[in-house]
Order: sequence, then structure tokens, then C-alpha cells
Amino acid sequence: MTKLTSSKAAPLKGIIKVPGDKSMSHRAVMFGALAEGTTKVTGLLEGEDVLATAEAMRAMGASVTKNNDVWTITGVGPKGLHSPAHTLDLGNSGTSARLITGIIAGHPIKATMTGDASLTKRPMKRVMDPLTQMGAKFESNDGKMPMTVHGSAALKAMHYDMPVASAQVKSAVLLAGLNAIGTTSVREPKPSRDHTERMLGAFGVECTSESNVVSIKGGQKLKAPLSTIVVPGDPSSAAFPIVAALLVEGSDITIENVGLNPTRTGLLDTLRDMGGNIEVMNRRDIGGEPVGDLRVRHSKLKGITVPVTRVPSMIDEFPVLFVAAACAEGETFCDGLDELRVKESDRLKTMAENLKACGVKCEEGEMSLRIYGTGTPPEGGATVATHLDHRIAMAHLVLGAVSKQSVSIDDAAAIATSFPDFVTLMNKIGLKIE
Ligand code: S3P
Repeated sequence: MTKLTSSKAAPLKGIIKVPGDKSMSHRAVMFGALAEGTTKVTGLLEGEDVLATAEAMRAMGASVTKNNDVWTITGVGPKGLHSPAHTLDLGNSGTSARLITGIIAGHPIKATMTGDASLTKRPMKRVMDPLTQMGAKFESNDGKMPMTVHGSAALKAMHYDMPVASAQVKSAVLLAGLNAIGTTSVREPKPSRDHTERMLGAFGVECTSESNVVSIKGGQKLKAPLSTIVVPGDPSSAAFPIVAALLVEGSDITIENVGLNPTRTGLLDTLRDMGGNIEVMNRRDIGGEPVGDLRVRHSKLKGITVPVTRVPSMIDEFPVLFVAAACAEGETFCDGLDELRVKESDRLKTMAENLKACGVKCEEGEMSLRIYGTGTPPEGGATVATHLDHRIAMAHLVLGAVSKQSVSIDDAAAIATSFPDFVTLMNKIGLKIE
């Protein structure tokens, strides 16, 4: 276990870029592997999660290679995947596990999947249920991994009313629907990220969306896009330098090339509502996704109630938002957070325990967290547990930068799943992490 300690930071200054979007990187590799032809990708996130997806797609017949900064994926074409010769180890990655399950379901192949101590605790029943109704078969450890998926060449299309707003579940059903007989549709209780729908479009597959229902006609073929897929910087990774710059006095940074898909920008809206000075510059569209550069300056934040409808668009950003709330003046209340309990760790419980250990007053509800910010730096001075959760680890390194005493994390290893250069990059702009 690699322990890291973060101490009071200097004002953050500089122009940086964060690594490629994790959701889009997974999809670029998966869809490239399914397509006819060769797909080129730049800006791909080379974190452990995406590398696990690449390894799984190779094990089922695709070629995934890197030359200089360009990734090349040669796909297997329609229903072309074969059963892997070994168990697919998906490490820490829920996105790999859920989406690949949907892909396998629509092929007449069989695969066993497993993951690390975090992933094997996470619910897979949420994808097993709809995919079973479509005709796939499963063996699992009571709805968890290790799990064997028996796919089918003759899945039946279905309409699925999703009980939770989850892009992973939506994507798994749509990807199975791609190889099913008939039109598959999914209704979401609230809109979740739409990278699957947008990127399938780049591969020539039509998905239609109308009032929270997304539909896909079975039998459509993915064709490698003629132009290179350019993956923008991950807004969920940008969240850490954004919050650090808002909190550390005297900071003024620019983060270039950040993805600004509206299904992902809830944190920016929330931080602005709290008084954060975040300016979007140079707005543009790259490969069907909005992108911009963000200038972030130190701001005095105040506590707010985060609208529940905004939760899906900032689902991965709550750990670092809680850090911002701990430093803001007044109460911040976030509700509708039941999904945080089934992320890489139980993020509600972990954050409540860790913030308390750092002297922050907060109250954990069944699906809520209330944080009492004082507008002054938290005490800090604790070593907190990260439970194999990258975002918990990075959020506390930001907390250490603004606390009276240093904050340590027990294990930094999980950071490599989404932001391998986090420590180097953050230290370059003013943090003191060692
Ligand atoms: C993701 C969807 C989200 C998110 C995860 C990535 C995706 O999960 O938390 O980090 O790429 O589809 P849910 O869809 O389960 O909320």
C-alpha cells in the first residue's frame, strides 16, 4: 500500500490538461472492437480501467494497439467476438464489467468475468435482470462477480423501465439490443450520461432519444469512423484541480480541453451556485461532444442545497464536492445519493467517516449528506481509508491542501485507474503531495 500525504498548498497557478475522458475511452475501445474496419483514437485515457477494457476486447478477438499517441483498434465485425480462453479480469472497473456484459449477451459466446476486492462487491444484478429477460443466461455469486455470461445469437428486443438512472445499465441494454431481434428501448428515471448514444452515432448506428426513452434497432452494423475519434479531457478528473483552485487562496489556473457534455457538468453548475468563479473559454465541438477550456480562480464559497435532479450529471463528483462544502461557509445538503453507496466504495459512508476524522461536522442520512461548513480551513491531521476508490483518494489529497494540518491517505494505488499522473500534475501547479 502506498501512503500519500497532502499538506497546505501554495496558490495554484498554471495551464494544464487532464487525461482523457474515462467513459468515452471505454466506449471508443469497445465500439472499435465491435466494428468493421480500423478505428483510430487519440486522447485515450491510459488508466488501468480502460486498459482492462482493451485487454478484454483483445481476449475476444479484436486488435488494440498503440503507436506514438494514436490507438488503433481493428474490430471483429458483426457478431464476430469469440469466447475468451481465460477469465476476464476487469480490475476495479464497473464500466468495463457492465458494458462488456451487454456486449457478450448479444453474441453466441460465453465468458467468465471477475475483478478486484471493490468490483466483486458491486451489484451486477442490475444488468443481469434485463439481459436475462432478453435471453442471456448467467451464473454469478449471488448477483455479484465472479460471473459467467452465456450470450445468445437470438436475443429478443425489449422495453426496459430502468429502476435507477445509470448510464452503465442503459448502455448494457442498448449494446445487447444492437444484436437483438426487434427494437430495444430503455426508459431512464432521470437522464444519465449519453456517450454511448453519441459515439454509436459516430460508428453509423442510430439511437433515438425522446423524453427519457432511448431506442435502438437490432441488426445495425458498427462501421469504423473515417475520422479519428478525439477524446477530450475528463470533466470528472478536472473536478479535482477545479475544487483545489477554488479553495486555495490566490489560485488562478486554466484547464484546457475539458469535455462539457451537459450530462456531465452538474459539478460546474453546483460550484457556481456556491459562488465559484469558473469561466468557460473557447467553447467548441469535437467529434460530436462539446469541449472548452476552464479558467478557475479562488472564490469564497457558500453552502447550498444541491437540486436532486442534478445528481446524475455529477454522480462521480460528490466526494470532491463534499470537500468544497467542508470549506464553504454554511450548510450544504445533498439528497438522492443512494447510488453513491454502490460505487467503487460506499462513498456516502466513506466520505462521512473521513470528513469527521478531519474535523468536519457532517450528518449521513440513508441517501443524503449534510455538511456544516464554517468558511475556515478544516482541522485535517488524519490518515483516512480509501477502500480501493480513486475518487475518495484524490478528494482527500485536495482536502489536505486546504486543511490546517496535513491529510494522509492509506493507499494511493487506485488513483491509477482514472488519473495516473495526478500527483505529478497537482504538484506542478502548487499542491504538496508526497
Ligand atoms: C459511467 C457511468 C456512471 C459513473 C461511472 C462511469 C459510464 O455509473 O459512475 O464512473 O461510463 O457509463 P452509473 O451509470 O452506474 O451511474
